[in-house]
Amino acid sequence: MKEAATPSTEPIGQNLIKLISNLCFSVFVFTVLIFTVIAITYQPPDPWLESAPALTKFFTQSENATFQIDNSIFKTGEDIQTVSISAPAALPSTGITEEVIEKSEAKIEIENENASTTLQSSGCEDSNLVNCSDPMVLIAVERFNLKRFKTNIVFLDYQTPVNGSNPDECDVSWRFRNKKEKSWRKYRDFRRFKFGYGDNCTYEIVHANGWHSGLNARRPRAATRPGGRTRPRVAPPVRDDEINDTIPTLGSDLNFRKGKYLYYSRGGDYCKGMNQYMWSFLCGLGEAMYLNRTFVMDLSLCLSGSYNPSGKDEEGKDFRYYFDFEHLKEAASIVEESEFLRDWKKWDRSHKRKIPVRKIVTHKTTPMQLKKDKSSIIWRQFDSPEPENYWYRVCEGEASKHVQRPWHAIWKSKRLMNIVSDISGRMDWDFDAVHVVRGEKAVNKERWPHLDSDTSPDALVEKVQKMVHPWRNLYVATNEPFYNYFDKLRSHFKVHLLDDYKEMWGETSDWFNETRELNGGRAVEFDGYMRVAVDTEVFYRGKTRVETFYNLTSDCKDGINTC
Ligand SMILES: *[C@@H]1O[C@H](CO)[C@@H](O)[C@H](O)[C@H]1NC(C)=O
Ligand SMILES: *[C@@H]1O[C@H](CO)[C@@H](O)[C@H](O)[C@H]1NC(C)=O
Ligand SMILES: *[C@@H]1O[C@H](CO)[C@@H](O)[C@H](O)[C@H]1NC(C)=O
Ligand SMILES: *[C@@H]1O[C@H](CO)[C@@H](O)[C@H](O)[C@H]1NC(C)=O
Ligand SMILES: *[C@@H]1O[C@H](CO)[C@@H](O)[C@H](O)[C@H]1NC(C)=O
Ligand SMILES: *[C@@H]1O[C@H](CO)[C@@H](O)[C@H](O)[C@H]1NC(C)=O
Ligand SMILES: *[C@@H]1O[C@H](CO)[C@@H](O)[C@H](O)[C@H]1NC(C)=O
Ligand SMILES: *[C@@H]1O[C@H](CO)[C@@H](O)[C@H](O)[C@H]1NC(C)=O
Ligand SMILES: *[C@@H]1O[C@H](CO)[C@@H](O)[C@H](O)[C@H]1NC(C)=O
Repeated sequence: MKEAATPSTEPIGQNLIKLISNLCFSVFVFTVLIFTVIAITYQPPDPWLESAPALTKFFTQSENATFQIDNSIFKTGEDIQTVSISAPAALPSTGITEEVIEKSEAKIEIENENASTTLQSSGCEDSNLVNCSDPMVLIAVERFNLKRFKTNIVFLDYQTPVNGSNPDECDVSWRFRNKKEKSWRKYRDFRRFKFGYGDNCTYEIVHANGWHSGLNARRPRAATRPGGRTRPRVAPPVRDDEINDTIPTLGSDLNFRKGKYLYYSRGGDYCKGMNQYMWSFLCGLGEAMYLNRTFVMDLSLCLSGSYNPSGKDEEGKDFRYYFDFEHLKEAASIVEESEFLRDWKKWDRSHKRKIPVRKIVTHKTTPMQLKKDKSSIIWRQFDSPEPENYWYRVCEGEASKHVQRPWHAIWKSKRLMNIVSDISGRMDWDFDAVHVVRGEKAVNKERWPHLDSDTSPDALVEKVQKMVHPWRNLYVATNEPFYNYFDKLRSHFKVHLLDDYKEMWGETSDWFNETRELNGGRAVEFDGYMRVAVDTEVFYRGKTRVETFYNLTSDCKDGINTC
């Protein structure tokens, strides 16, 4: 993985531009950093109710930002923003609490009394038998979970327990939210519980198995395929069928004609780093919102070579590999580019009066000047030479006071987040984490003089021991490619690395299957950007977090004299 490369072969002019832009960027990064620290340490009582105008303002203030790839940052709306415009009102934000459990318990007791089945609990004499459909079984599980995971997890709903593999076991499935994630997205867990009886024939949990252990309770995937054939399956894969990121269509001609669109042609941002992509994309989307128009978006991205094992820029990456398109559809008015172009052509072919289009050739035409424009399509073309053709230039200067970047619209892909949940769930959300930045920065002794030695295996053992208790689960988020680099930590901690979980994106995984489907049947590579996304998110879920640039080294994050 590379920093914004500065090979010595480049012409002086370009180097100068880079130097200047790096400087500007440093200011930007510094402010982001400060905010990040605030965001991490600040835990609002209920993140759903918090509003974040200051945040958007903050981001829009950092003008003229240019982007240097920092492959340790992957921030999206659910990390930095605290308001969710689409949080479904029906969803209880507090989940299943002790009060909720007590209420349902009282109800069951009344019902039992009326049916005069008190103490019927069938197998109380036979302590090896449990009736999984008995509502008191679920109550016992709910209480147990609440006690154990209350600090990390909000339990949203449970399904009726089913038989486990032994007569004294039940498998239970539920959905939850992680308190560390400021989105309302739900994840699923299902575990196996072994029961015994306490005083008065009450159920007691003798043992609970780990993450995704309740195989009988996981929801089988719909057995009917589009073809109509049903196939009995031995072990239906766990699949997140709650994800709906299909591309919306406008339907009829008339619907198309009624719409107002803002269309950005591909500009100089294409194939640049992801931070720049996001900064630019959110500028376009922000302008569309400001103009009250539908944003025409290209779902096909070009991933910068620094994130690819091959080192080459790769086109044709689907937006949905990285980001939550379903959430974007709900949070903003968007239409997919090829759908849009097709409808546009169709209309112009079949009608005498063409669709009114206003073409804009320079970013110097401001959003404010377009506010009154009645054309159906406003088409910004970015044909000037770099850096005049960057999308984000539209939002510079005066425009930044009017256009706000809708950070809340961008969340990480749920498919990636399922991997994050899976990794943290396997450690039962009870782990500490260390972020070890190496790579290009460790090599560059001029800008980071101590980083390499401060993150050497011996230094890590010495420093991490001071912050993390012995034999804790320790998740190491890192861009160090050598797997065995962290072996010395293994004599003190239970070390976990992203590569220990390879099967989660391997050929038999759901992730593999689902992304392949998005990609028209071709396998999708788990690339460097996805790695960073998952690595960072798991890191944030750690209980004690050790950062490279606060805790391991006194070098500055952005090079010498930047902090
Ligand atoms: C941003 O760039 C514009 C023109 O390129 C310039 O006028 C403005 O002063 C710059 N703003 C900052 C904060 O550097
Ligand atoms: C229980 O029975 C009483 C009277 O016998 C009745 O008023 C009450 O509604 C019943 N409750 C339930 C939950 O069936
Ligand atoms: C198990 O509990 C359910 C609900 O209370 C009840 O309907 C069922 O008859 C019980 N089964 C056995 C075998 O006791
Ligand atoms: C669950 O187990 C009980 C007793 O072991 C049995 O009576 C019942 O039929 C089983 N239920 C299902 C759905 O297999
Ligand atoms: C068992 O029942 C007795 C009386 O019915 C009650 O005093 C006691 O608190 C109960 N124990 C438990 C653990 O519920
Ligand atoms: C997915 O969402 C679209 C709207 O974006 C909706 O029209 C479609 O019915 C949804 N599909 C499923 C399976 O829920
Ligand atoms: C935005 O456009 C929609 C329909 O195109 C219209 O109903 C709505 O009033 C507009 N809102 C504003 C603030 O202009
Ligand atoms: C992947 O999908 C194919 C068909 O789309 C299915 O036959 C296969 O069982 C799936 N594998 C997994 C692990 O989900
Ligand atoms: C890392 O450094 C920050 C800032 O100095 C401090 O607040 C935090 O507690 C440190 N973390 C650990 C694990 O010591």
